[in-house]
Amino acid sequence: MATTQPKPRDSWGSKLGFVMAAAGSAVGLGNIWKFPYTAGESGGGAFVLIYLFFVVFIGFSVMLTEFAIGRHTQKSAVGAFKSTDRRWTFVGLISLVSGLLIMGFYPVVGGWSIAYVYKIATGLIDAPATAGDTFTSFISNPIEPIIWMTMYLLLNILIVIKGISGGIEKAGKILMPTLFIILIIVSVKGLSLPGSGAGLGFLFTPDFSKVDSNVVLAALGQAFFSLSLATGCMVTYGSYLKKKESLVQTTGMVIAMDSGVALLAGIAMFPAMFALGVEPAAGPGLVFVVIPQLFAQMGGTIGFGLALLFFIGLSVAALTSSVSLLEVAVSYLIDEKGLTRMKAVVVSSLTMVVMCVFASLSLGGIGPTLFDTGVFDIFDLLTDKIFLSVCGMFICIFAGWRMNKEDLRNEITNYGKVPFRFFELWYTLVKYVIPFAIALVAFMGVKAGFDSGKGEIMALGVAFIGLTAFVSKKL
Ligand code: PHE
Repeated sequence: MATTQPKPRDSWGSKLGFVMAAAGSAVGLGNIWKFPYTAGESGGGAFVLIYLFFVVFIGFSVMLTEFAIGRHTQKSAVGAFKSTDRRWTFVGLISLVSGLLIMGFYPVVGGWSIAYVYKIATGLIDAPATAGDTFTSFISNPIEPIIWMTMYLLLNILIVIKGISGGIEKAGKILMPTLFIILIIVSVKGLSLPGSGAGLGFLFTPDFSKVDSNVVLAALGQAFFSLSLATGCMVTYGSYLKKKESLVQTTGMVIAMDSGVALLAGIAMFPAMFALGVEPAAGPGLVFVVIPQLFAQMGGTIGFGLALLFFIGLSVAALTSSVSLLEVAVSYLIDEKGLTRMKAVVVSSLTMVVMCVFASLSLGGIGPTLFDTGVFDIFDLLTDKIFLSVCGMFICIFAGWRMNKEDLRNEITNYGKVPFRFFELWYTLVKYVIPFAIALVAFMGVKAGFDSGKGEIMALGVAFIGLTAFVSKKL
Protein backbone atom coordinates (compact mmCIF):
# COMPACT_ATOMS: atom_id res chain seq x y z
CA MET A 1 0.00 0.00 0.00
CA ALA A 2 1.43 3.35 1.05
CA THR A 3 5.15 3.38 0.35
CA THR A 4 5.56 7.15 0.43
CA GLN A 5 6.15 8.89 3.71
CA PRO A 6 3.98 11.92 4.24
CA LYS A 7 5.33 12.53 7.76
CA PRO A 8 9.05 13.13 8.41
CA ARG A 9 10.69 9.92 9.54
CA ASP A 10 11.23 9.40 13.24
CA SER A 11 14.95 9.70 13.85
CA TRP A 12 17.51 8.98 16.54
CA GLY A 13 17.79 11.67 19.21
CA SER A 14 21.58 11.60 19.27
CA LYS A 15 24.53 9.92 17.69
CA LEU A 16 25.41 8.07 20.88
CA GLY A 17 21.84 6.90 21.13
CA PHE A 18 22.04 5.38 17.68
CA VAL A 19 25.37 3.66 18.24
CA MET A 20 24.12 2.28 21.53
CA ALA A 21 20.89 1.04 19.99
CA ALA A 22 22.67 -0.57 17.02
CA ALA A 23 25.23 -2.09 19.38
CA GLY A 24 22.33 -3.10 21.61
CA SER A 25 20.83 -4.94 18.67
CA ALA A 26 24.13 -6.64 17.89
CA VAL A 27 25.14 -7.51 21.44
CA GLY A 28 22.80 -10.12 22.80
CA LEU A 29 22.27 -13.80 23.38
CA GLY A 30 24.40 -14.32 20.26
CA ASN A 31 27.46 -13.06 22.12
CA ILE A 32 26.89 -14.40 25.59
CA TRP A 33 24.79 -17.54 25.09
CA LYS A 34 25.59 -18.69 21.54
CA PHE A 35 29.19 -17.62 20.97
CA PRO A 36 30.75 -19.50 23.91
CA TYR A 37 28.90 -22.76 23.29
CA THR A 38 29.44 -22.66 19.50
CA ALA A 39 33.14 -21.96 20.05
CA GLY A 40 33.21 -24.83 22.56
CA GLU A 41 31.53 -27.24 20.15
CA SER A 42 33.65 -26.09 17.21
CA GLY A 43 37.00 -26.69 18.83
CA GLY A 44 37.89 -23.30 20.32
CA GLY A 45 40.72 -21.13 19.00
CA ALA A 46 40.51 -21.88 15.27
CA PHE A 47 36.78 -21.16 15.25
CA VAL A 48 37.35 -17.90 17.11
CA LEU A 49 39.99 -16.84 14.60
CA ILE A 50 37.83 -17.63 11.56
CA TYR A 51 34.88 -15.90 13.20
CA LEU A 52 36.93 -12.75 13.81
CA PHE A 53 38.21 -12.84 10.25
CA PHE A 54 34.62 -12.98 8.95
CA VAL A 55 33.56 -10.19 11.29
CA VAL A 56 36.29 -7.87 10.02
CA PHE A 57 36.12 -8.61 6.30
CA ILE A 58 32.51 -9.63 5.73
CA GLY A 59 30.62 -8.33 8.77
CA PHE A 60 32.04 -4.83 8.58
CA SER A 61 31.38 -4.49 4.85
CA VAL A 62 27.85 -5.90 5.03
CA MET A 63 26.90 -3.72 7.99
CA LEU A 64 28.16 -0.61 6.23
CA THR A 65 26.21 -1.66 3.14
CA GLU A 66 23.02 -2.15 5.15
CA PHE A 67 23.32 1.23 6.85
CA ALA A 68 23.95 2.86 3.47
CA ILE A 69 20.96 1.16 1.84
CA GLY A 70 18.68 2.10 4.73
CA ARG A 71 19.73 5.71 4.94
CA HIS A 72 19.86 6.20 1.19
CA THR A 73 16.37 4.87 0.57
CA GLN A 74 14.90 6.14 3.87
CA LYS A 75 12.91 2.93 3.98
CA SER A 76 12.79 -0.08 6.24
CA ALA A 77 13.83 -3.59 5.26
CA VAL A 78 11.45 -4.50 2.44
CA GLY A 79 10.70 -1.00 1.13
CA ALA A 80 14.40 -0.24 0.76
CA PHE A 81 14.79 -2.91 -1.91
CA LYS A 82 11.34 -2.60 -3.40
CA SER A 83 11.61 1.14 -3.97
CA THR A 84 14.87 0.68 -5.87
CA ASP A 85 13.80 -2.24 -8.03
CA ARG A 86 10.80 -4.50 -7.51
CA ARG A 87 12.76 -7.50 -8.76
CA TRP A 88 14.91 -7.19 -5.65
CA THR A 89 12.01 -7.12 -3.19
CA PHE A 90 12.81 -10.73 -2.31
CA VAL A 91 16.00 -9.67 -0.52
CA GLY A 92 13.93 -7.54 1.83
CA LEU A 93 11.39 -10.31 2.21
CA ILE A 94 14.03 -12.89 3.05
CA SER A 95 15.49 -10.57 5.67
CA LEU A 96 12.04 -10.12 7.12
CA VAL A 97 11.46 -13.88 7.18
CA SER A 98 14.88 -14.44 8.78
CA GLY A 99 14.08 -11.87 11.44
CA LEU A 100 10.73 -13.49 12.09
CA LEU A 101 12.27 -16.96 12.34
CA ILE A 102 14.83 -15.67 14.82
CA MET A 103 11.95 -14.18 16.80
CA GLY A 104 10.45 -17.65 16.71
CA PHE A 105 13.09 -18.91 19.17
CA TYR A 106 15.02 -15.93 20.56
CA PRO A 107 12.33 -14.95 23.08
CA VAL A 108 12.34 -18.54 24.33
CA VAL A 109 15.97 -18.17 25.36
CA GLY A 110 15.26 -14.61 26.54
CA GLY A 111 12.58 -16.15 28.75
CA TRP A 112 15.07 -18.67 30.17
CA SER A 113 17.30 -15.77 30.97
CA ILE A 114 14.74 -13.84 33.02
CA ALA A 115 13.64 -17.12 34.59
CA TYR A 116 17.23 -17.59 35.78
CA VAL A 117 17.24 -14.19 37.45
CA TYR A 118 14.30 -15.46 39.47
CA LYS A 119 15.77 -18.92 39.99
CA ILE A 120 19.09 -17.57 41.22
CA ALA A 121 17.30 -15.13 43.51
CA THR A 122 15.29 -17.98 44.96
CA GLY A 123 18.18 -20.29 45.73
CA LEU A 124 19.25 -22.19 42.57
CA ILE A 125 22.84 -21.52 43.44
CA ASP A 126 22.53 -23.36 46.75
CA ALA A 127 22.30 -26.68 44.89
CA PRO A 128 25.03 -26.39 42.23
CA ALA A 129 25.37 -30.13 41.65
CA THR A 130 21.90 -30.27 40.14
CA ALA A 131 22.31 -27.22 37.85
CA GLY A 132 22.43 -29.43 34.75
CA ASP A 133 19.30 -31.37 35.65
CA THR A 134 17.51 -28.21 36.68
CA PHE A 135 18.18 -26.68 33.28
CA THR A 136 17.17 -29.77 31.28
CA SER A 137 13.95 -30.28 33.17
CA PHE A 138 13.16 -26.55 33.05
CA ILE A 139 13.49 -26.17 29.27
CA SER A 140 11.63 -29.38 28.52
CA ASN A 141 8.73 -28.45 30.78
CA PRO A 142 5.72 -27.64 28.56
CA ILE A 143 4.37 -24.74 30.64
CA GLU A 144 6.97 -22.93 32.71
CA PRO A 145 9.29 -21.67 29.93
CA ILE A 146 6.28 -20.50 27.93
CA ILE A 147 5.16 -18.30 30.80
CA TRP A 148 8.62 -16.73 31.01
CA MET A 149 8.78 -16.34 27.23
CA THR A 150 5.46 -14.48 27.29
CA MET A 151 6.71 -12.17 30.00
CA TYR A 152 9.85 -11.57 28.00
CA LEU A 153 7.85 -10.70 24.87
CA LEU A 154 5.67 -8.32 26.88
CA LEU A 155 8.80 -6.42 27.91
CA ASN A 156 9.72 -6.13 24.22
CA ILE A 157 6.27 -4.84 23.37
CA LEU A 158 6.43 -2.19 26.06
CA ILE A 159 9.68 -0.83 24.63
CA VAL A 160 8.63 -0.94 20.97
CA ILE A 161 5.23 0.70 21.53
CA LYS A 162 7.02 3.81 22.71
CA GLY A 163 8.67 4.24 19.29
CA ILE A 164 12.25 5.07 18.40
CA SER A 165 13.72 7.79 20.53
CA GLY A 166 11.31 7.24 23.41
CA GLY A 167 11.83 3.53 24.03
CA ILE A 168 14.62 1.70 22.27
CA GLU A 169 17.14 4.47 22.52
CA LYS A 170 16.68 5.07 26.23
CA ALA A 171 16.84 1.37 27.00
CA GLY A 172 20.08 0.97 25.03
CA LYS A 173 21.77 3.95 26.62
CA ILE A 174 21.32 2.78 30.17
CA LEU A 175 21.52 -0.95 29.76
CA MET A 176 24.54 -1.45 27.49
CA PRO A 177 27.19 0.07 29.75
CA THR A 178 25.77 -1.90 32.67
CA LEU A 179 26.34 -5.10 30.78
CA PHE A 180 29.98 -4.25 29.98
CA ILE A 181 30.72 -3.71 33.63
CA ILE A 182 29.08 -6.97 34.71
CA LEU A 183 31.08 -8.99 32.18
CA ILE A 184 34.36 -7.41 33.21
CA ILE A 185 33.70 -8.24 36.87
CA VAL A 186 32.83 -11.81 35.97
CA SER A 187 35.96 -12.20 33.78
CA VAL A 188 38.31 -10.86 36.43
CA LYS A 189 36.82 -13.26 38.95
CA GLY A 190 37.14 -16.23 36.55
CA LEU A 191 40.73 -15.41 35.62
CA SER A 192 41.75 -15.26 39.26
CA LEU A 193 40.92 -18.96 39.75
CA PRO A 194 43.86 -21.43 39.71
CA GLY A 195 44.03 -23.42 36.46
CA SER A 196 42.14 -20.82 34.45
CA GLY A 197 45.04 -20.44 31.96
CA ALA A 198 44.03 -23.59 30.08
CA GLY A 199 40.70 -21.98 29.24
CA LEU A 200 42.41 -18.98 27.72
CA GLY A 201 44.58 -21.38 25.72
CA PHE A 202 41.51 -23.22 24.45
CA LEU A 203 39.90 -19.98 23.37
CA PHE A 204 42.91 -18.37 21.74
CA THR A 205 45.24 -21.13 20.49
CA PRO A 206 44.02 -22.18 17.06
CA ASP A 207 44.09 -25.88 16.19
CA PHE A 208 43.24 -26.01 12.51
CA SER A 209 42.93 -29.78 12.47
CA LYS A 210 39.51 -29.22 14.02
CA VAL A 211 38.32 -27.07 11.11
CA ASP A 212 35.98 -28.44 8.43
CA SER A 213 33.31 -26.80 6.25
CA ASN A 214 30.79 -27.15 9.07
CA VAL A 215 32.99 -25.08 11.35
CA VAL A 216 33.58 -22.45 8.66
CA LEU A 217 29.84 -22.11 7.96
CA ALA A 218 29.14 -21.99 11.69
CA ALA A 219 31.65 -19.13 12.04
CA LEU A 220 30.07 -17.24 9.15
CA GLY A 221 26.56 -17.75 10.52
CA GLN A 222 27.72 -16.69 13.97
CA ALA A 223 29.25 -13.50 12.53
CA PHE A 224 25.99 -12.58 10.77
CA PHE A 225 23.79 -13.52 13.71
CA SER A 226 25.91 -11.73 16.25
CA LEU A 227 26.06 -8.54 14.18
CA SER A 228 22.29 -8.62 13.49
CA LEU A 229 22.95 -8.64 9.76
CA ALA A 230 20.64 -9.73 6.95
CA THR A 231 17.53 -9.44 9.08
CA GLY A 232 16.54 -5.94 8.05
CA CYS A 233 17.61 -4.58 11.46
CA MET A 234 20.55 -2.55 10.31
CA VAL A 235 18.76 -1.38 7.13
CA THR A 236 15.84 -0.20 9.25
CA TYR A 237 18.05 1.39 11.92
CA GLY A 238 20.08 3.07 9.15
CA SER A 239 16.91 4.57 7.71
CA TYR A 240 16.37 6.38 11.01
CA LEU A 241 19.94 7.73 11.09
CA LYS A 242 20.50 11.43 10.44
CA LYS A 243 22.25 12.39 7.21
CA LYS A 244 25.13 14.11 8.97
CA GLU A 245 26.40 11.08 10.92
CA SER A 246 29.35 9.03 9.69
CA LEU A 247 28.30 5.54 8.65
CA VAL A 248 31.85 4.18 8.64
CA GLN A 249 32.61 5.34 12.14
CA THR A 250 29.30 4.03 13.43
CA THR A 251 29.89 0.64 11.81
CA GLY A 252 33.37 0.47 13.31
CA MET A 253 32.06 1.22 16.79
CA VAL A 254 29.26 -1.34 16.59
CA ILE A 255 31.61 -4.04 15.29
CA ALA A 256 34.18 -3.30 17.99
CA MET A 257 31.62 -3.44 20.77
CA ASP A 258 30.01 -6.62 19.49
CA SER A 259 33.27 -8.51 19.08
CA GLY A 260 34.51 -7.09 22.35
CA VAL A 261 31.52 -8.46 24.23
CA ALA A 262 31.72 -11.86 22.51
CA LEU A 263 35.40 -12.20 23.42
CA LEU A 264 34.70 -10.92 26.91
CA ALA A 265 31.95 -13.51 27.28
CA GLY A 266 34.46 -16.17 26.18
CA ILE A 267 36.97 -14.87 28.70
CA ALA A 268 34.27 -14.84 31.36
CA MET A 269 33.33 -18.47 30.67
CA PHE A 270 36.26 -20.60 29.50
CA PRO A 271 39.01 -19.93 32.05
CA ALA A 272 36.56 -20.49 34.88
CA MET A 273 35.18 -23.63 33.20
CA PHE A 274 38.63 -25.11 32.83
CA ALA A 275 39.51 -24.18 36.37
CA LEU A 276 36.42 -25.97 37.62
CA GLY A 277 36.72 -28.93 35.26
CA VAL A 278 33.58 -28.31 33.19
CA GLU A 279 33.33 -29.71 29.63
CA PRO A 280 33.64 -26.95 26.95
CA ALA A 281 31.31 -28.64 24.43
CA ALA A 282 28.33 -28.48 26.77
CA GLY A 283 25.92 -27.12 24.12
CA PRO A 284 23.11 -24.56 24.45
CA GLY A 285 22.84 -25.14 28.20
CA LEU A 286 26.42 -23.96 28.72
CA VAL A 287 25.70 -20.55 30.20
CA PHE A 288 22.73 -21.74 32.22
CA VAL A 289 24.51 -24.71 33.70
CA VAL A 290 28.01 -23.37 34.10
CA ILE A 291 27.37 -19.90 35.47
CA PRO A 292 25.32 -21.04 38.48
CA GLN A 293 27.94 -23.72 39.19
CA LEU A 294 30.81 -21.29 38.90
CA PHE A 295 29.31 -18.81 41.24
CA ALA A 296 28.20 -21.46 43.66
CA GLN A 297 31.84 -22.53 43.91
CA MET A 298 32.82 -18.98 44.66
CA GLY A 299 30.27 -19.07 47.38
CA GLY A 300 28.79 -16.48 49.69
CA THR A 301 27.09 -13.24 48.90
CA ILE A 302 29.67 -12.40 46.20
CA GLY A 303 28.92 -15.54 44.21
CA PHE A 304 25.21 -15.01 44.61
CA GLY A 305 25.40 -11.33 43.67
CA LEU A 306 27.57 -11.95 40.61
CA ALA A 307 25.33 -14.74 39.35
CA LEU A 308 22.32 -12.52 39.74
CA LEU A 309 24.05 -9.64 37.94
CA PHE A 310 25.11 -11.98 35.16
CA PHE A 311 21.58 -13.08 34.33
CA ILE A 312 20.22 -9.57 34.66
CA GLY A 313 22.90 -8.53 32.17
CA LEU A 314 22.05 -11.40 29.86
CA SER A 315 18.36 -10.52 29.94
CA VAL A 316 19.11 -6.90 29.22
CA ALA A 317 21.39 -7.78 26.30
CA ALA A 318 18.76 -10.11 24.89
CA LEU A 319 16.06 -7.49 25.24
CA THR A 320 17.89 -4.78 23.30
CA SER A 321 18.41 -7.30 20.48
CA SER A 322 14.93 -8.74 20.22
CA VAL A 323 13.47 -5.26 20.38
CA SER A 324 15.32 -4.50 17.15
CA LEU A 325 13.83 -7.56 15.49
CA LEU A 326 10.35 -6.70 16.63
CA GLU A 327 10.91 -3.18 15.33
CA VAL A 328 11.74 -4.54 11.85
CA ALA A 329 8.43 -6.37 11.63
CA VAL A 330 6.58 -3.40 13.11
CA SER A 331 8.10 -0.84 10.76
CA TYR A 332 7.39 -3.12 7.80
CA LEU A 333 3.72 -3.24 8.74
CA ILE A 334 3.61 0.53 9.30
CA ASP A 335 5.52 1.52 6.15
CA GLU A 336 4.28 -1.08 3.71
CA LYS A 337 0.88 -2.07 5.02
CA GLY A 338 -0.22 1.24 6.51
CA LEU A 339 -0.96 -0.12 10.00
CA THR A 340 -0.80 2.07 13.08
CA ARG A 341 2.17 1.38 15.40
CA MET A 342 -0.14 -0.15 17.98
CA LYS A 343 -1.78 -2.54 15.52
CA ALA A 344 1.55 -3.43 13.96
CA VAL A 345 2.95 -4.33 17.38
CA VAL A 346 -0.05 -6.51 18.19
CA VAL A 347 0.02 -8.38 14.85
CA SER A 348 3.74 -9.05 14.89
CA SER A 349 4.01 -10.05 18.51
CA LEU A 350 1.06 -12.43 18.28
CA THR A 351 2.79 -14.17 15.36
CA MET A 352 5.95 -14.40 17.43
CA VAL A 353 4.13 -15.85 20.45
CA VAL A 354 2.70 -18.66 18.34
CA MET A 355 6.08 -19.52 16.83
CA CYS A 356 7.79 -19.38 20.21
CA VAL A 357 5.22 -21.65 21.82
CA PHE A 358 6.00 -24.32 19.21
CA ALA A 359 9.73 -23.71 19.58
CA SER A 360 9.58 -24.03 23.34
CA LEU A 361 7.42 -27.17 23.26
CA SER A 362 9.78 -28.81 20.77
CA LEU A 363 12.52 -28.84 23.41
CA GLY A 364 10.37 -31.15 25.49
CA GLY A 365 9.85 -33.38 22.44
CA ILE A 366 6.31 -32.09 21.83
CA GLY A 367 5.02 -30.92 18.45
CA PRO A 368 5.88 -31.32 14.78
CA THR A 369 9.32 -32.27 13.48
CA LEU A 370 10.90 -32.13 10.05
CA PHE A 371 13.64 -34.60 9.14
CA ASP A 372 13.79 -35.48 12.84
CA THR A 373 14.44 -31.89 13.80
CA GLY A 374 12.20 -29.96 16.20
CA VAL A 375 10.83 -26.46 15.60
CA PHE A 376 13.40 -24.66 17.78
CA ASP A 377 16.29 -26.27 15.94
CA ILE A 378 14.69 -25.74 12.53
CA PHE A 379 14.37 -21.99 13.12
CA ASP A 380 17.91 -21.81 14.44
CA LEU A 381 19.39 -23.95 11.68
CA LEU A 382 17.59 -22.21 8.84
CA THR A 383 18.59 -18.72 9.93
CA ASP A 384 22.07 -19.38 11.27
CA LYS A 385 23.26 -21.68 8.54
CA ILE A 386 21.39 -20.47 5.45
CA PHE A 387 19.15 -17.41 5.42
CA LEU A 388 21.48 -14.91 7.05
CA SER A 389 24.56 -15.60 5.00
CA VAL A 390 22.77 -16.15 1.69
CA CYS A 391 20.67 -13.03 2.24
CA GLY A 392 23.88 -11.15 3.09
CA MET A 393 25.26 -12.33 -0.21
CA PHE A 394 22.26 -10.89 -2.06
CA ILE A 395 22.52 -7.61 -0.16
CA CYS A 396 26.08 -7.29 -1.44
CA ILE A 397 25.08 -8.23 -4.97
CA PHE A 398 22.27 -5.68 -4.82
CA ALA A 399 24.60 -2.91 -3.64
CA GLY A 400 27.42 -3.85 -6.01
CA TRP A 401 25.47 -4.59 -9.15
CA ARG A 402 22.12 -2.84 -8.87
CA MET A 403 22.77 0.33 -6.93
CA ASN A 404 24.61 3.27 -8.35
CA LYS A 405 28.23 3.41 -7.19
CA GLU A 406 28.20 7.21 -6.87
CA ASP A 407 25.04 7.09 -4.75
CA LEU A 408 26.80 4.71 -2.43
CA ARG A 409 29.90 6.87 -2.34
CA ASN A 410 27.81 9.94 -1.52
CA GLU A 411 25.86 8.13 1.16
CA ILE A 412 28.94 6.69 2.82
CA THR A 413 31.05 9.86 2.62
CA ASN A 414 28.14 12.24 3.31
CA TYR A 415 28.74 13.85 -0.10
CA GLY A 416 32.49 14.02 0.44
CA LYS A 417 32.26 15.54 3.93
CA VAL A 418 33.59 12.47 5.73
CA PRO A 419 36.35 10.86 3.66
CA PHE A 420 36.49 7.05 3.54
CA ARG A 421 39.94 5.98 2.40
CA PHE A 422 38.95 2.38 1.82
CA PHE A 423 35.90 3.06 -0.31
CA GLU A 424 37.31 1.26 -3.36
CA LEU A 425 38.41 -1.72 -1.28
CA TRP A 426 35.00 -1.92 0.38
CA TYR A 427 33.29 -1.67 -2.99
CA THR A 428 35.41 -4.44 -4.50
CA LEU A 429 34.75 -6.66 -1.51
CA VAL A 430 31.02 -6.05 -1.72
CA LYS A 431 30.76 -6.38 -5.48
CA TYR A 432 32.99 -9.39 -6.09
CA VAL A 433 34.72 -11.00 -3.14
CA ILE A 434 32.00 -11.37 -0.50
CA PRO A 435 29.28 -12.79 -2.77
CA PHE A 436 31.72 -15.37 -4.04
CA ALA A 437 33.08 -16.20 -0.59
CA ILE A 438 29.61 -16.63 0.90
CA ALA A 439 28.40 -18.75 -2.00
CA LEU A 440 31.40 -21.02 -1.53
CA VAL A 441 31.08 -21.34 2.25
CA ALA A 442 27.31 -21.92 2.03
CA PHE A 443 27.70 -24.53 -0.69
CA MET A 444 30.37 -26.45 1.20
CA GLY A 445 28.36 -26.12 4.41
CA VAL A 446 25.16 -27.52 2.91
CA LYS A 447 27.15 -30.34 1.37
CA ALA A 448 28.71 -31.17 4.73
CA GLY A 449 25.28 -30.75 6.32
CA PHE A 450 24.07 -33.88 4.57
CA ASP A 451 26.61 -35.92 6.51
CA SER A 452 25.32 -34.62 9.81
CA GLY A 453 21.68 -35.17 8.82
CA LYS A 454 20.85 -31.48 8.63
CA GLY A 455 21.46 -31.02 4.90
CA GLU A 456 17.81 -31.56 3.94
CA ILE A 457 16.59 -28.63 6.02
CA MET A 458 19.39 -26.43 4.76
CA ALA A 459 18.60 -27.40 1.15
CA LEU A 460 14.94 -26.56 1.80
CA GLY A 461 16.05 -23.14 3.01
CA VAL A 462 17.97 -22.55 -0.22
CA ALA A 463 14.93 -23.67 -2.23
CA PHE A 464 12.73 -21.30 -0.24
CA ILE A 465 15.00 -18.38 -1.11
CA GLY A 466 14.88 -19.32 -4.78
CA LEU A 467 11.11 -19.56 -4.70
CA THR A 468 10.76 -16.20 -2.94
CA ALA A 469 13.00 -14.58 -5.54
CA PHE A 470 10.81 -16.00 -8.26
CA VAL A 471 7.43 -15.22 -6.70
CA SER A 472 8.21 -11.78 -5.31
CA LYS A 473 8.79 -10.39 -8.82
CA LYS A 474 5.07 -10.71 -9.22
CA LEU A 475 4.20 -8.95 -5.95
N1 PHE B 1 22.67 -9.99 17.23
C1 PHE B 1 21.76 -10.47 18.20
C2 PHE B 1 22.53 -11.26 19.25
O1 PHE B 1 23.69 -11.44 19.12
C3 PHE B 1 20.69 -11.31 17.63
C4 PHE B 1 20.03 -10.70 16.47
C5 PHE B 1 20.15 -11.27 15.24
C6 PHE B 1 19.34 -9.51 16.61
C7 PHE B 1 19.59 -10.70 14.14
C8 PHE B 1 18.77 -8.91 15.51
C9 PHE B 1 18.90 -9.50 14.28
O2 PHE B 1 21.97 -11.74 20.18
